[in-house]
Amino acid sequence: MSAVRALGLSAATAAMSVVAGCRGQQSVMDPAGPQASRIEWLFWVVFWIALSAFVLVMLAFGRAAMRSGASKDEPPLPIIKEPPGDRAATVVVGLAVALTVIGLFSILALSAVTGAAAAGPTSKNPVTIQITGHQWWWEVTYPNTQPDQIVITANEIHIPVGKPIVILTKSEDVIHSFWPPNVNGKRDLLPGNQTAYWMQVDKPGIYRGQCAEFCGYQHAHMGFRIVAESEADFSKWQQAQIKPAKDPSDAETIRGRAVFMSRACVMCHTIRGTDAGSRVGPDLTHVGSRQMIAAETLPNTRGALAGWILDPQGIKPGNRMSPNPMPPDDLNALITYLQSLQ
Ligand code: CUA
Repeated sequence: MSAVRALGLSAATAAMSVVAGCRGQQSVMDPAGPQASRIEWLFWVVFWIALSAFVLVMLAFGRAAMRSGASKDEPPLPIIKEPPGDRAATVVVGLAVALTVIGLFSILALSAVTGAAAAGPTSKNPVTIQITGHQWWWEVTYPNTQPDQIVITANEIHIPVGKPIVILTKSEDVIHSFWPPNVNGKRDLLPGNQTAYWMQVDKPGIYRGQCAEFCGYQHAHMGFRIVAESEADFSKWQQAQIKPAKDPSDAETIRGRAVFMSRACVMCHTIRGTDAGSRVGPDLTHVGSRQMIAAETLPNTRGALAGWILDPQGIKPGNRMSPNPMPPDDLNALITYLQSLQ
């Protein structure tokens, strides 16, 4: 019986390390809302069904192995012999088949129920957010019937806690997949086809997500974050994001804006309130307020911004931003300007 005990111990250890290893920032095992809770519940149901099947099979194996160890005194069994009808074996095999069928169909049914519950609409009056996939970043738009109330940002999705959110997804180039594990399952972003995806976060916090469909060279550097905050904080953020960029007031920031407008930056980026209005790369109107840059690749610090502006191809090879060599004074002024865009 010590083999069984060892088996139980190793299964328990494996289960514990799965749980321990997955608690944290980006994990299905740490649900932050109703959809993710259902998915986590399904995980544990499947886990226990699979573990029970494993233990039963191992016990059957162990028993068979012990029985086949015939003593040396016994004469060898005749090779050809009509086996007598073994009623016990028939019952055991029948039971095993029945259990297998019940187990597999339970998993199938529970998966379908969980999938439908996680995907179904949860409100008639949700917060609507449009997510557009690009190689390799996420465009985040808060649509509004009044054009001057629209918010456009990148890679950082602010939401109010406890409210149903509908995420409309589409892609500008190839297939991507939106996956915030703590919040809900995956949803593919398809070129030319918009879909709706529901989620809700009940615990304030920052939840990391990432692209879950291979989409080219920098697929692994296509992360995003969901910032779930109180309704008051969310609407404060939204009001700040609606405003056009603040006009620079000191010499350094004015110089920084001039650098932006006279170099390649203006060819790809928008800063609302200025002449920069291109939509190739992320909208930078409030880039200074974001926590990360380059789709969760770097923290939004002076040093990281400098590295990114000078050599984006060294940091994220293959992305659409070209290198921008420039004198240190220009670079410093440009970074000061970008960081002033709160
Ligand atoms: Cu986008 Cu992988």
